[in-house]
Amino acid sequence: MSKPVILTGIRSNEEPTLGNYLGAFLPIVKMQQEFAGDYQINMFVPDLHSFTTPVDHSSLYQNTLNNLKYFIASGLNINDQDTFIYRQSYIPAHSELTWILDCFTYVGEMSRMTQFKDKSNEHSESVTVGLFNYPVLMAADILLYGAKYVPVGEDQFQHLEITRDIATRFNNKFGDIFTIPDATGDQTKFIKRDSGLRIRSLTDPTKKMSKSNEDPKSKILLSDTPDEAIKKIMSATTDSVGAVNFDWDNQPGITSLLQILAMITGRPRDEVNAQWQGNTMYGEFKKAVAEAVAGFLTDFQARLNAIDDDTLMNKLQASEAAMSEVANATLLKAQVAVGLRPKVN
Ligand code: TRP
Repeated sequence: MSKPVILTGIRSNEEPTLGNYLGAFLPIVKMQQEFAGDYQINMFVPDLHSFTTPVDHSSLYQNTLNNLKYFIASGLNINDQDTFIYRQSYIPAHSELTWILDCFTYVGEMSRMTQFKDKSNEHSESVTVGLFNYPVLMAADILLYGAKYVPVGEDQFQHLEITRDIATRFNNKFGDIFTIPDATGDQTKFIKRDSGLRIRSLTDPTKKMSKSNEDPKSKILLSDTPDEAIKKIMSATTDSVGAVNFDWDNQPGITSLLQILAMITGRPRDEVNAQWQGNTMYGEFKKAVAEAVAGFLTDFQARLNAIDDDTLMNKLQASEAAMSEVANATLLKAQVAVGLRPKVN
């Protein structure tokens, strides 16, 4: 296995929205289409990370599988030989390496992690040691597979930096054990997140579409029926300008819909904007968006329902077996380095 490794952890989403599809699922699918062949792609569900803040444990196991199905319905090819899809907790080396790395990580540097600080404010009654330790488990996720490329969003840059710091410190002490992942700036070429992409709430287009917004009218869920989606889009908040323009400042509702229309239909944004620019019939415009989204949901849900559970399970088990070998070999090197296993001559 000599191809360079691109590694990506995919967060579990209980009720993914159209925004998650466009902003997260599609870019990962595109990455696979573009780079499999030249690279090995490790895609895993960080299920151990998923309860660093409270979750409903009765649905965790099934959510992990459902989450993967959303990616497959979005176009991820599970038959690709270069792509390994696995669950973190099925490869115990993640937990074991975390412990070893913990003992080479300082409380001081971990206390500076902004995500920890933000999340511990959000969940102030129940800040767990797991939440504090989150970045070290993430470092283990990366280092076990010698991944050089870890395309993450900006909110994870600091975690990638600490991974580099921990690995460098370990290597300085024990020799060349870990591959150091590339610096954050070099990772972005693998997942082309469109920095202009903004999918807005349908009820308040100054805010982003969020799965945690309690108002069902504010968001399109991938599980919405096409009719529900049509109703939500037809009643989406727009503006009183009276003509369609691509203008985030003054017409964020209309602009978000223009963007959805272009992305869902796969047409160039300029072309879609030009077609609707200046049109005064908001109803007609919304109807076009609503129909495109309804058509997309119909197809998406058909793909989702057609996914065969056994095929998914076979892929997971094969990937987990193959990746256990890689992970265990790295773990053993670290165990030997710190003196838990005899040196092999
Ligand atoms: N923390 C990442 C996120 O929230 C998910 C993740 C866990 C991850 N382990 C990883 C991403 C390792 C990349 C590499 O998105």
